Amino acid sequence: MKPARLVASEALCAVLDGASLARALPPRLSESDNPPLTQELVYGALRWHFHIEGLLGQLLERPIRDKDRILRCLLHVGLYQLMEMDLPPHAAVNETVAVTRALKRPWARGLVNAVLRRYQREAERLEASLDEADRLSHPRWLLERLRQAWPNEWQRICEENNRRPPMVLRVNRLRQSRDAYLQQLAAEGIEARPHPCSEVAIELARPVPVEALPGFADGAVSVQDAAAQLAARFLDPQPGERVLDACAAPGGKTAHLLEHAGGDLDLLALEMEPARLPALRETLERLGLEAEIRQGDAACPEDWWDGRPFDRILLDAPCSATGVLRRNPDIRVHRRPQDIARLQATQQSLLNALWPLLRPGGRLLYATCSVLPEENRERVAELVAGQADARLLPLPADCGSDAGCGLQILPGDEEMDGFFHALIEKRRDS
Ligand SMILES: C[S@@+](CC[C@H](N)C(=O)[O-])C[C@H]1O[C@@H](n2cnc3c(N)ncnc32)[C@H](O)[C@@H]1O
Repeated sequence: MKPARLVASEALCAVLDGASLARALPPRLSESDNPPLTQELVYGALRWHFHIEGLLGQLLERPIRDKDRILRCLLHVGLYQLMEMDLPPHAAVNETVAVTRALKRPWARGLVNAVLRRYQREAERLEASLDEADRLSHPRWLLERLRQAWPNEWQRICEENNRRPPMVLRVNRLRQSRDAYLQQLAAEGIEARPHPCSEVAIELARPVPVEALPGFADGAVSVQDAAAQLAARFLDPQPGERVLDACAAPGGKTAHLLEHAGGDLDLLALEMEPARLPALRETLERLGLEAEIRQGDAACPEDWWDGRPFDRILLDAPCSATGVLRRNPDIRVHRRPQDIARLQATQQSLLNALWPLLRPGGRLLYATCSVLPEENRERVAELVAGQADARLLPLPADCGSDAGCGLQILPGDEEMDGFFHALIEKRRDS
């Protein structure tokens, strides 16, 4: 076993070297003498990455050499504890300084100690000297885009991106009602409330490991944010219908569509990445649901479509994930401005390729976990402008705000992730 702070620093280094958090953290957690602490440190240090970099810019007299970048990660871990965690500060400092020995860099003991203690003494002045992007811990380019897109909301969006998200469940209504599951949670001492935006959503007061959830392994319930649960509510597939889930893995929405329609859909779950297919299969297996699973590129229907039109299509498109930074804090260090233009082109080609597969009278739901208009309403507006038979349908605005061409949920609206949904119907009479 290794000290939790050492494992956290190593995982952080792997992420900053380019790995995803999903790849960097899970295999290392088993080496930690305190996995929950390691997890909290890595998530927190990534959420506050740009803020901490801004502090280090003031605290370090000389840059740390690249071969010693693990020390920079250790300083991130140390500063995050002092800034945001409810730990006795002297313990946080001592335990962090002690990691220099395990890193075989005893010479760095003085450096780490000095930086952390100086932050303790001068926190107020150092914090006050940060510019806006560093204070809000966002890359400058993203802050600028958010400011332009959301002149009145950008600060709130950034603050929400820095908060810990709630754990939200989706009750499998083929197994039991939400009320019945709320009772089971209460019996286990797990505090929870029904979520107002989905009939099957439950928000927990505090996150718990999934193994602690009654019946999880047998498919009683899934973990899914309420904003993502709106997809099945809005697309509203009816029993017996032919449905395409065009970007399906890991299958959260595929499963919800099936649960919503009583398990009775002729559903094709398509996914381009072969490595993501096992997760999709496991999701359906755990929940006892059935769909046809295929590997394929949704932008090339000629490779996988049998010519039978779909009643409903869900396009949960690949996107910048700028609405879920609080859940996926590595996104904020990995995302680049040039990604957005590439994603826009992909989103438009997916929309254009899938539109002909819908029957007259059928409906397509376009969804992203982005808060950028160029990935959302602008893509839908372009589809509707280019297809004479496309008609945008209104969506209930009880859980988000009308974005012109769809419904935008901003991070924190009703405690939800940032999400965009637009429902488009194919006219019968054109
Ligand atoms: C936002 S995620 C989907 C999440 C999923 N709908 C759920 O609720 O669990 C987007 C998925 O689309 C896949 N994807 C990206 N481009 C694709 C394409 N051209 N065709 C099919 N799948 C694609 C990605 O590999 C990724 O698994």
